[in-house]
Amino acid sequence: MDDLSPRPGDLEPIETASVDELRALQLRRLRWTLRHAYDNVAHYRAAFDAAGVHPDDVTTLDALATLPFTTKEDLRRNYPFGMFAVPRERVVRIHASSGTTGRPTVVGYTQEDLDVWATVVARSIRAAGGRAGMILHNAYGYGLFTGGLGAHAGAEKLGCTVVPVSGGMTERQVQLIRDFRPDVITVTPSYMLALVDEMERQGDDPRATSLRVGIFGAEPWTNDMRREIEQRLDMHAVDIYGLSEIIGPGVANECVETKDGLHVWEDHFYPEIVDPISGEVLPDGEEGELVLTSLTKQAMPVIRYRTRDLTRLLPGTARTMRRIEKITGRTDDMIILRGVNLFPTQVEELILGTAPLSPHFQCVLDREGHLDAMTVRVERRESAPATDAAEAGLELQRLVKNRIGVSVSVEVVEPGRIERSVGKMRRIVDRRPKR
Ligand code: DLL
Repeated sequence: MDDLSPRPGDLEPIETASVDELRALQLRRLRWTLRHAYDNVAHYRAAFDAAGVHPDDVTTLDALATLPFTTKEDLRRNYPFGMFAVPRERVVRIHASSGTTGRPTVVGYTQEDLDVWATVVARSIRAAGGRAGMILHNAYGYGLFTGGLGAHAGAEKLGCTVVPVSGGMTERQVQLIRDFRPDVITVTPSYMLALVDEMERQGDDPRATSLRVGIFGAEPWTNDMRREIEQRLDMHAVDIYGLSEIIGPGVANECVETKDGLHVWEDHFYPEIVDPISGEVLPDGEEGELVLTSLTKQAMPVIRYRTRDLTRLLPGTARTMRRIEKITGRTDDMIILRGVNLFPTQVEELILGTAPLSPHFQCVLDREGHLDAMTVRVERRESAPATDAAEAGLELQRLVKNRIGVSVSVEVVEPGRIERSVGKMRRIVDRRPKR
């Protein structure tokens, strides 16, 4: 794999500023944000007043913890434009979550917000090893989802040649990769796997493509998946994190030279980790729920947003800014099976350690009598004989029991039988009757 470490002069000054400089900037920006939200968004004024706090009381970064959280429910209640802090005419872009349950969540951006977003995404692509002049194949979905347009604007800002493919049309994606010879691909890790399978089907050697780095996010993926992708494609696999409520992709990104967790772009987003149940702030290093506050957003400032993503905060390494550890899962993706907590990422790790099994899998939940039961449906690898795969299924069942501590069934299915997603993969199929 290529050495894509940054050269002197590649980085923005703030990426290597001192911690003191960074904290001073954050405090200044936080105070502006709180004032802006309080003065212009009825929801924040009411929430702060009810909690008996005023923006001017926040004179330190730690005092942020005295402010109330913001939840997805708050955004839904203020549907569609109630969380905007500027006149609607100044909002030049809207994105929205798919909203499979209830109302979608709407987010808005001023022109300046779009500039900040492009800046943090450009910084993310650069951290991942992308450079001006490279060709970037963008397979994140375009539309209301923030992935496509977010990655697109950042790549253009960095000076890449962007191929705006969006998700889907897998055969054609592979042809375009062959013909245009991109250096960088931006796509969900699960869809990357579908693309590799298609390359092989078309007779291309995935290790011989022009791709040098993949920037993967929008869903949880493990370090074992990183090894799988890097090995199969002979390229760097780097993690990008973000969420529409905060801005979209580009809240945090890994550095290609270290791949040790994602640096939060703290000059624009302030991270805290809280206990998911009590809401109490936890010290750096402890695992809990990530809470984010925007520091520069104009159209829709967000104060202490409960992301539901589980991780921990670690000190800076390749950059001054703190890192989040690779995300294990979301609080709402946690499966509780006969009292044992379990995330699909744990199953992914075990599957990737079992050679005859492919990384295409789903966790299917059923109810048998009064008890919940889980079946891991996983595909056999094309190259593995069916008898080996059946044995590997039994091995996986044993591993889940021994390492996670709960009995599950494993069903090994033929290659291609698990639904492929062109964006975020649905890992959990919940067939339990609603109580
Ligand atoms: O998924 C934004 C995005 C697009 C990020 C492209 C990265 C790349 P939402 O649709 O609002 O936005 O979903 C946000 O996706 O709260 C996490 O649960 C999950 N997620 C995003 N990135 C990662 C990641 C986009 N790198 C939700 N690892 C977040 C794990 C991720 N989960």
